Parts: sequence; structure tokens; C-alpha cells
Amino acid sequence: MLRALSLAAFFSPSTTATAQSCTNDGISSASGCLCPPGFGGANCSQPACGGTIFDGSHRSLTSPSAASGGFPNLTSSDCSCPNGWTGLGCNVCTSASGCQSGYAAVSGNASSTTTAQASGLNDTLVCNTSPRVFAAGELSCQVNNPTLQAIYPLQSILNIHRTFNTSLSPLKNVSGTVLSPNGSPTVYAQLFYSGVEQFFCTASSCTQSSTSTTDSWTCSALQCQCISDTSFCGANVASDLTSTINSLSGALTIACDNTNNCHFQQQIINGLFGSSGLTLQGCTYGECVTQAVIDSSNGTSTSGLTTGSSPLSPGVIAGLAVVGGLVGIGLVAVVWGWILQKAARKRPFDGGQNGGVDVRWTNVSYFVRSSGRDKPILDAINGQVAAGEFMAILGPSGAGKTTLVELIAGKAKSGLFTGSITFPSLVNGRRPRIAFVPQTDILPAVLTVREALAFAASLRFPESLSRERMAALVSAIISRLGLEDVAETRIGATDGTGRGISGGEARRVSIGLELVGCPDILVCDEPTSGLDSVSARRVVDVLREVARGGGGLFGSAEEKGQGVAVICSVHQPSSRLYHSFDSVLLLSHGRALYSGPGGLAPTRHFASAHDADIQRTGESELPPYEEGYNVADYLLEIASAAPAGSISAQTAKNNSNELTPTANRSDDEKANGTDVEALVTRNRSITGEYATTFLTQFQVLCGREWKLLRRDKSLFFTHLIVSVILGAFCGGLYFRIGLTIAGFQSRVGCLFFLGALIAFSSLSALYNIVEIRPLFVRERSNSYYSPTAWLLSRFCFDVIPLRILPTIIVSTMTYWMAGLAHDASHFFKFLFILVLYTLVMTLFNFLLATLFRNGGIAILVSALTALYQMTYAGFFVHLDSIPPVLRWLQWLCPLKYNLEALSVNEVGSGLMIVDQLQGVPINISASLILTTLFGFDPSGYYRDVLVLFGFIAGLGITLIGVVWLRLKEKR
Ligand SMILES: *[C@@H]1O[C@H](CO)[C@@H](O)[C@H](O)[C@H]1NC(C)=O
Ligand SMILES: *[C@@H]1O[C@H](CO)[C@@H](O)[C@H](O)[C@H]1NC(C)=O
Ligand SMILES: *[C@@H]1O[C@H](CO)[C@@H](O)[C@H](O)[C@H]1NC(C)=O
Repeated sequence: MLRALSLAAFFSPSTTATAQSCTNDGISSASGCLCPPGFGGANCSQPACGGTIFDGSHRSLTSPSAASGGFPNLTSSDCSCPNGWTGLGCNVCTSASGCQSGYAAVSGNASSTTTAQASGLNDTLVCNTSPRVFAAGELSCQVNNPTLQAIYPLQSILNIHRTFNTSLSPLKNVSGTVLSPNGSPTVYAQLFYSGVEQFFCTASSCTQSSTSTTDSWTCSALQCQCISDTSFCGANVASDLTSTINSLSGALTIACDNTNNCHFQQQIINGLFGSSGLTLQGCTYGECVTQAVIDSSNGTSTSGLTTGSSPLSPGVIAGLAVVGGLVGIGLVAVVWGWILQKAARKRPFDGGQNGGVDVRWTNVSYFVRSSGRDKPILDAINGQVAAGEFMAILGPSGAGKTTLVELIAGKAKSGLFTGSITFPSLVNGRRPRIAFVPQTDILPAVLTVREALAFAASLRFPESLSRERMAALVSAIISRLGLEDVAETRIGATDGTGRGISGGEARRVSIGLELVGCPDILVCDEPTSGLDSVSARRVVDVLREVARGGGGLFGSAEEKGQGVAVICSVHQPSSRLYHSFDSVLLLSHGRALYSGPGGLAPTRHFASAHDADIQRTGESELPPYEEGYNVADYLLEIASAAPAGSISAQTAKNNSNELTPTANRSDDEKANGTDVEALVTRNRSITGEYATTFLTQFQVLCGREWKLLRRDKSLFFTHLIVSVILGAFCGGLYFRIGLTIAGFQSRVGCLFFLGALIAFSSLSALYNIVEIRPLFVRERSNSYYSPTAWLLSRFCFDVIPLRILPTIIVSTMTYWMAGLAHDASHFFKFLFILVLYTLVMTLFNFLLATLFRNGGIAILVSALTALYQMTYAGFFVHLDSIPPVLRWLQWLCPLKYNLEALSVNEVGSGLMIVDQLQGVPINISASLILTTLFGFDPSGYYRDVLVLFGFIAGLGITLIGVVWLRLKEKR
């Protein structure tokens, strides 16, 4: 009432307080109420009965009847419609003659008096019975919703009056009729239950869009009002719809087709009855309008009436923009990389000469901090190796051999380093290339020896080196290493489980990988450990050959390159091996006992030290050397016997190689600032520069991954077969889910199952990274490729075939077996979400694998996270019922977004739940249940997509950062 009053005040400012309050959206004026078509009486509360809408206020009206609870009852009254008219209340025309006679009865002329007459147009009145409205039309439908009928079993009829253009309607100037008060297309609707009006609605600012078979009105500002104490609104205490009906607001759509069905759509109604709203059946359309109006609007129909699909939502546009932007950036990056690669291929190749570099280390000390003080590992070591010289660093375990070779090789170490390691400056300012062969062989197991070397060669030489030369180079290295027999054998696991090459061969491959870099100095850490004497001998022979023959890789066979300085730490060489070494550095407890030529020279040195001791003190702790004894064993004996710090200063001073066992640390520190600096720069050169451009790195990596994938077919096919089995299992589990309430639960359960499956199966991604991490770290320390190129190749050859493809298989099988929404658009939206979620989970597991050095902890964290996600997905706990302290955790749960988007997508297909509860038929929209049961937002699909994209971007960037900063060699 209040609203009617305010409407009245708005449209008739002259009206005073004497104005009648009108119902049915009538407009009150000084002379009474202006009622909408089909209503009359003092306050528009009485529906017309019989007659035509042209009769206006002169129509016969229904009076309130006590039998119908004091309301006018159209069914009980004898409202026979005149010829050519139909519908409850006889507002709908069925024939042109009905319109003409009705119009004539009022205005005395069978033709309307519209402006058309003057212009000679056909002004004959006709009855338009198509869904489309040209001026002002009526429509009357039955409401046969099963859920509604369970409560209200009698006949419900909805009368709708749609005004499109008042000026074209013959109803103009008919008193007592309210048409489109503010000029815009307007809708009036009244619902009659068993002949008695229950509520009425109006909506304004409508637009009509029509095709040849459908017609759709979209209006805003819907307002509805229940008539108190009617069956719907108060009389039936058990189901009083008053608050629901009065709260209907916002946009209203009335969509009709030529099969006499219409849909009354509004947000709340759609929530109750499904996305197509309340279905109206058996509709009759009727509109009295002149032929001229129909003719003139025919040609121009598309201009005034919007036709076609609804515009894209802002979310979709934003999403498309983001995807488009990413694709654009990717394309630009590819083109840029390609240009760089082209340029790099044109650059002249500067040879690759190596060797001829001496290395000298002075006062090298190294401390590690343990329990608050610096513990010396190396103490003032001096030494030097000339090009072409093969030096062995001998000493018992714990003497500091590995530390020393790592320092010489310029490996990043965590302790404190003082002293200097110097090289002569090279021609053209090139930095010396130092190769380091670590103690353990970390090799790509699936590649053959030749492939492994070729891989290293294509990343260590500039692109300008032709393929043929590169292949020749690899062959040269293979023959130099004596690996011709196993060149085409897969490296295999070198852990002694058989299959693959032997330990000695693997060690030589490791050396070969370093030789590929044309090193000036080759440093090996215990190259013979763990090998039998024959294998050890072959390894040492190769090293000596490298020292002698040096480079020459690019020269002819005869041309010997300059010698390469080779430094090895050796644990316990046989006598034969020992005599291969040109010079020897003997370490004991971090101090040098001897540094000088190899062979028997050390024995003479210690013999003279022994004699000196005897002369001075009468006794010596140094054991004498016996002829024929293995010199290496003898030296080790001396080194082991020497207690920490026991070597006298004299022993050292007697040595020609200026050993200073009692080094003064403070001196070292001030003397060597610049050299330490030099070492740091050298390290940077090792980690910072790549021989090839990014695109080449990526291509070479992809080539290797592709080989791995092709060779290790079991991995790929296991994933495929497992996903087919899982798909069949999951599809069977949820085979053809019904539309009942229980079926709905299974439906969401099925979607949840898929999400949980992805969360857990991406654990294999974690293991995968843990497994290949050592190889990556080694190759990275050799500056083969940038971590980003590696990550990208992982993405192409791990994520796509092993994560996304199985996800697509499982989801597709499950989708169609379970009978989820049967149309392409919902299917692809479903797939899209699952692929996004797979990416999120894979990246997350990659991240865990790179963050935690301990794979076990990473797996534990991943499993716990999957559990957390399942808890907060909304399936086990209603999200709104979680205490606020813990509730916010849902925003960090990707599975929640995944499940919400999947469910919303499924329900958005217009899923209706058809069931019976205690014999009461239920026919309601699933989205209502979705909100009530799980707390999901029915319009959240695109938001969820954006959130998942956010997760992907965040995890991806973090992953790149972590790989750059953390996944590197630490010694
Ligand atoms: C209206 O009248 C019909 C016929 O008399 C009757 O069956 C029906 O119950 C009445 N409606 C109401 C709501 O009383
Ligand atoms: C006007 O339209 C009516 C109905 O379509 C038709 O019967 C009549 O012939 C038309 N008259 C003229 C003059 O076109
Ligand atoms: C009006 O439209 C119908 C179908 O859309 C067409 O068959 C008819 O020829 C059109 N008439 C005029 C006058 O444009």
C-alpha cells in the first residue's frame, strides 16, 4: 500500500490526501484509482469478469464472496468471455474480429484512431497471437510446478500485461487503464490461485528481444506484493509465502517461445526452481494492434529490439584479457629468444683452445665454524701445478683433500677461506676454465654415453659451432676416454644394480663431461675411489693423457694441444697408479707434509728429514722407507702417524717447496683480500654465464626430456593406464548419478573425489623433482643452462604428459560415465577448472620438493596439505559453521575453489532436483541446495577461475625464485 501511495504521489503530484489507496498497482488520482487492464472497483481490487479490455472501467467486475474468504473469486463467478476473447478474466484476444468488435463497442469505429490512419496505412485492428509484443499485449499462463502444486494443488494462473509502446496501442485513451505510466516498457503480472488473486508484481524499464520463435523481456526494478490472508499469503499458516514474494526484486526476465511455454525468471525464483526459473505452461498470447504497427515494426524489428546472445560478463572478459595477455607475452618472448639465437649462431666461433695455464695456491687456509669457534680444515697450504702436470693430493681420510680440490676448483663453500689461488692472465683476457669432477657420478641414467656427452657439448659450446664439428668433438672425447665400446650403451643406474655401464666407465663419462668444456685446469675429487684396480688405472691413464695431450680437440690428431694442469685427490693409489703422478702434495690434518715431485722424491725427502731428526735429537718418529714398498702407502703411513700439529718447523723448512705449517692467520688476511675477491669473481663466472642462449638451452633440454619420455615409456604408460583405470573406477562409482537429493550429494562427491585424486596423485610430481634434483644441481653448477629453462622444459615434458593428460583422461571418463551436464560448454568449463587445479597442485609439489632437502619431509607436508584442503573444501564441513578463528583458512584452500567452480558449473547447467520427500514431490533447483548445503556462491565460477590463476602465478613465481636461490650446489 505504501508503495502504491508513493507511486501515486510520484505520478500525480496534484493528488491530495483524499486520494484513494489503490491496489494492483493502480494509480490513485482525485477522481479515484486508475487501474491496470482487467481490474476495476474503487481501489482496483476487483478483477474484471467478462467483457473486453476495451471496456475499461465499464466492465463487469467480480465481487468479494464470503465463500472464497472474502476475496473476489473469478472461477466461481460466471465470467463467460465474449467471442474472440479468452484467458482468466477474458483479457486475451484470440481473433481480429474480437479486437474489432471490442474496440467498436467502445469507440464506435472498427478501425483504431491512431495516427496511422492519416498516413494511409492499413489501420485494420488485428489480434497478434505471437509471443512478441508490438504495442501492449496480454498473456495468461498456467503454473504447473510440481513443488508448488504439492503445497497448492489447485489451479494457479498467471496473467501478464506487457506494454511495449503505449502510443501504438488502441487501448490508448481508454479510461481506467494504466499503461506504462513512465513511458518505458512495463510489465504487470497477477497470480490467481483457484480464481482468487494472490499477489501482483510490476517491473519497468524493460527491453524486448525477439527472434522468429522466441521472445524475451528483461526488466529491472521488480516489485511484488502479496495480498494478505490469501492462500499464498497468510491463510495457510504452514506455508506462508508473504516474505518470499514481497522480497522478489531486481531483474525480471519473461522468456516465451512459440510452444506456448514461458519462463518467469528472477534471482530468488531461479534459486528455487532452477536457472530457467518458474516454468509457465499453456500460455495464450493476445494483442489487439493495427496491421500498420505490425508492418512497420517488421522491417525495423532488429533496431528497436535487441536480438542475439547476452553479452559476456566482466569476469569472462577479464579472464580472456589475462589469457590473451599471457599468450602475447609468451609469443613476444619466443620471438625475442629466436632473434637472440639467430644472432648467437652468426657469431664467429673462437676456437676452444685450452691448456697452458698454471695454478698456484699460497697460504690457503680454510675454517669451518663449529660450536662457536673456527675449526681449521686447511692450514696455510702452498703448492703449484704447471700446465701439463698431473698432481695427486694424498692423505688419509679427513686430511682436507676434498676441501682443497674444491677450493682450487672454485666451488662455493660455506666456511671461511683465506689465502690466494692465482692463475696467470690469459691472452685476450679470457678467464681460465676450471673443470671439476666430483666424487660421485651424477649422470642422466636413460641417455647413452654419446648422448650424455653430446648434451653437454651442445650446452657448453656456443651455437656457432656446427653440428658436425660438435659430433666429431664428442667422438674424439669418447675415443680419448676409451669409451668406444659403450658409446651407445645407456648409462643406467650406476649404483651397481647391473644394466648400464660400469663404475669405472661412469667415472670416465664424468671426466668426459668436463673435458667437453675444454678446461684449462681439470680438478678431480677421488677419481679412483670405489673402483677396482684395472678401472682405476684406466681412469688415471685418461687423466694423465689429458694432462699431456691437453687440448687438441679442435686440432688435427697429430697436433698436440698445450698441456692441462690436472689435480686429483687420491685416497689410496696402488704403486702403479702412484708412479703416474708428476707431483705429489701430502696432507695430514689440514697441513702439507710434502709438496714436490712424485716418484721416489718424497721418500728421499723424508729420509733426509729422518736423518736430520736423528742428528739433532737422536731419534725420529718418521718411519724409514724400505725399498720396493709402495711409496703411496709409505706416505699415507707418515701422514697418518703424524699427530695433529706435530710436524716440526724444521721438517718444513728443509723442504724446498717453502712449506709454512705454522701459518699466521692475521698475515694471510691482510695479504689476500684481493685474491679472495678474484676467487669470488671466478665463482660468479662459473654460475652466471651460459655458453648458449636461452632458447637453445630450452631446445636442448627439451630434446633430452623427449628422449627420456620416449625411452622410459613405462613411466608415461603407467600414468596413462593408471588414469584409465581410475577413470573407469570413478565413473563406475558414480555411474549415471540420479537427479534425486542423494544423487546430488553423489554428484558433488564425484567432483570432490576428482579434486582429492589430483591433490594426492601430484605427489608423484614431488618425487620426480626430488629424484632429478642432484642432476640439476650438478648441471647447474657447470652453467649448462639457466634454471628457468630447466623449469620450462619440466613443464613441457613432465607437467603436460604426466599430470595434465592423465587428469584429462580421468575427468573425461568420469564426466560422461557419471552423466554430468550433457553439453560441451559445461564439459570444457569442467575440464578447464581441473586442469587449472592440476597445475596448482603440481607447482605446489614442485615447490615443496625444491624447498625441502629431505624428500620425506616434503612428502609429509604435501600429504598434510592435501588433508587440509579436503577439510576446507566445503564437502566435509559447511564452511560457514567453522569457528571464525579457523574459517579464514578456507581462502587459502585451492581445492575449495576447485570444488566450488566445478559444482557451480554443474548446477549452472540448470540442474533440477526431482525427488519425493515423505510423498511430497520436490522439484527445485540444485543451486538452492548447493548454497544451503555447502555454502557455495552460485555465481562464483569466474571468480574461482581467477583465484586459481592467482595461485598458479604465485606458486610459479615463488618456484622460480626458490629454484634460483636455493637449488644450487652447496659444499
Ligand atoms: C473459487 O470458486 C471455485 C468454484 O466455486 C471454488 O471451487 C474455489 O475453491 C474458490 N476458490 C477459493 C480460493 O475459495
Ligand atoms: C489490412 O490488413 C488486413 C489484415 O491483415 C487485411 O485483411 C486487409 O486486406 C489489409 N487492407 C489493406 C488495404 O491493405
Ligand atoms: C514480416 O516478417 C515476416 C517473417 O519475419 C516475413 O515473412 C514478412 O514478409 C515480413 N513482412 C514485411 C512487410 O516485411
